[in-house]
Amino acid sequence: MAKTSLKRIGVLTGGGDCPGLNAVIRAVTKTLIHDEEVEIVGFLDGYEGLVLNRYVRLDWKAVSNILTLGGTILGTSNTANPMRWAEKKGTKIVIRDRSHDALHTFRRHRLDGLVVIGGDGSMAIAGELAERGVPVVGVPKTIDNDVCGTEMTFGFQTAVGVATDALDRLHTTASAHHRVMVAEVMGRYAGWLALHSGIAGGADIILIPEIPFRWDAVFESIRDRARRGKRFSIICVAEGARPAGGDMIIQRRVEGSPDPIRLGGVGRLVAGSVEQKTGVECRATTLGYIQRGGTPCSFDRVFATSLGHRAAQLVSEGHWGRMASWQRGQLSDVALEDVAGGCRKVGPADPLLAIARSVGTSFCE
Ligand code: F6P
Repeated sequence: MAKTSLKRIGVLTGGGDCPGLNAVIRAVTKTLIHDEEVEIVGFLDGYEGLVLNRYVRLDWKAVSNILTLGGTILGTSNTANPMRWAEKKGTKIVIRDRSHDALHTFRRHRLDGLVVIGGDGSMAIAGELAERGVPVVGVPKTIDNDVCGTEMTFGFQTAVGVATDALDRLHTTASAHHRVMVAEVMGRYAGWLALHSGIAGGADIILIPEIPFRWDAVFESIRDRARRGKRFSIICVAEGARPAGGDMIIQRRVEGSPDPIRLGGVGRLVAGSVEQKTGVECRATTLGYIQRGGTPCSFDRVFATSLGHRAAQLVSEGHWGRMASWQRGQLSDVALEDVAGGCRKVGPADPLLAIARSVGTSFCE
């Protein structure tokens, strides 16, 4: 590829960690050094590093041997936002605009652009920085698979694998003890993780936020299986699932985060109610951060490398204000303004819903 006049590019990872972040950092850095001979500045702990000018230089050596590493060598933050910077003043949290500090850091390093690797919150912030004149390119990450403008995010397939493995393991105890086993998986307001891992793990019931469930249908489904001689059942429930007419269960609030709500607890609620109403012994397991940790699966290593490569191409071509994406089975890119603020959910016509129903899985609608 022909070299351009690019000299220095910044990179940061924002939001919750996710398998494949390091693979993207490596791909962006190596591609830009290889194609453009640019210097790469890695900002530490997400947007915090940009505001406070905390950084490391990323060269070929710094990003070698990180392809398989979980987490992020740059660190991350799910609260740091230059436009709404949260600071503790005594017992209070004060919010102020520190975007001028972020812009100052950007100019101080004489950067030509910034690559932001993150989820919807990080992309929204990237969009706001773009409006303030920062040339930005995004790369979509999250185990939730809920970023708009891309049909898949890196990290999702690894999390599906972890959750599927957990369901396989829960099957053995369910079968040996004739129990109902409930697995609560992450995913925030989208049911992708529960849907995919539930199908892969052969769950009898999958509960997702997009299809509010009826309690009666859950109990009847368990009783029906018992009548048919099935002595155990597996329920895969998304943390954002809720009964029809009811609310999602909020576990805690993280003030200063783009979305302060943290979900959790529906698995235990489902297990308690099922045991009480059906008389079948029931246990709940919350998979939690196990789904986010560890090494990316081979698919995510390839996918994260490809998205990182695409982001580097967007930088080289000067296509700022865009996010690398996956659409109709191909690498693509999309305008950041079409990504920000949205949440991609499982649609009612998603083919996987019909496929799951056809093999006897109930969504208890
Ligand atoms: O977005 C990824 C995710 O793991 C969600 O599935 C979960 O709801 C949330 O992050 C948890 O966030 P935190 O790391 O702030 O607890």
